[in-house]
Amino acid sequence: MRYRIAPIIVVLWALFGADASPSGAGEAADSREPVQRTDTEKAFVLEQMRLLLSSIVVIEEGLGSNDMDVVAREAAARGRKANATLARPATLSAKESEAWKSMFGSVRGGFDQIAEQAAARAPAAQINKTLADTMRNCVACHQTYRIEETR
Ligand code: HEC
Repeated sequence: MRYRIAPIIVVLWALFGADASPSGAGEAADSREPVQRTDTEKAFVLEQMRLLLSSIVVIEEGLGSNDMDVVAREAAARGRKANATLARPATLSAKESEAWKSMFGSVRGGFDQIAEQAAARAPAAQINKTLADTMRNCVACHQTYRIEETR
């Protein structure tokens, strides 16, 4: 039986051992641009982020069960119209770059478009495509920025 153990050890080393090596080969350098936000601003932004993610789950559930009213309602709640009067930390807007605003604006606009398509009973595949296009902005922004907490 012993001859079977060596390959297992090799595999385990490849999976876990390599990470423990001091050369740090497994650690990718974080090349995202840090953006400075206070703890209040950061808490606000991250709460909005979590809302986006949980709405995507509800939208996908709605698409999967063909409940377009749920899709329309949930998407609209994350859209530009519904959030136009959202109370934001007053200091936040001036800190946001044009690129940030553009990507976030595209997310809001994308959810409005999903709400309109669901209300118009567009095919689920089309709405899923709009959601994918919208989520490219999530990915792009996450690849670009990280939040650095400041006072
Ligand atoms: C304009 C930029 C931007 C856009 C657009 C954006 N995000 Fe984020 N998001 C961030 C940043 C920055 C962080 C914090 C990352 C860090 O500091 O490591 C974050 C964090 C998050 C988190 C973690 C929340 C937590 O509590 O830690 C979630 C979840 C998230 N985003 C979901 C989304 C989803 C879903 C979308 C698209 C529908 C989206 N985000 C679009 C910038 C963005």
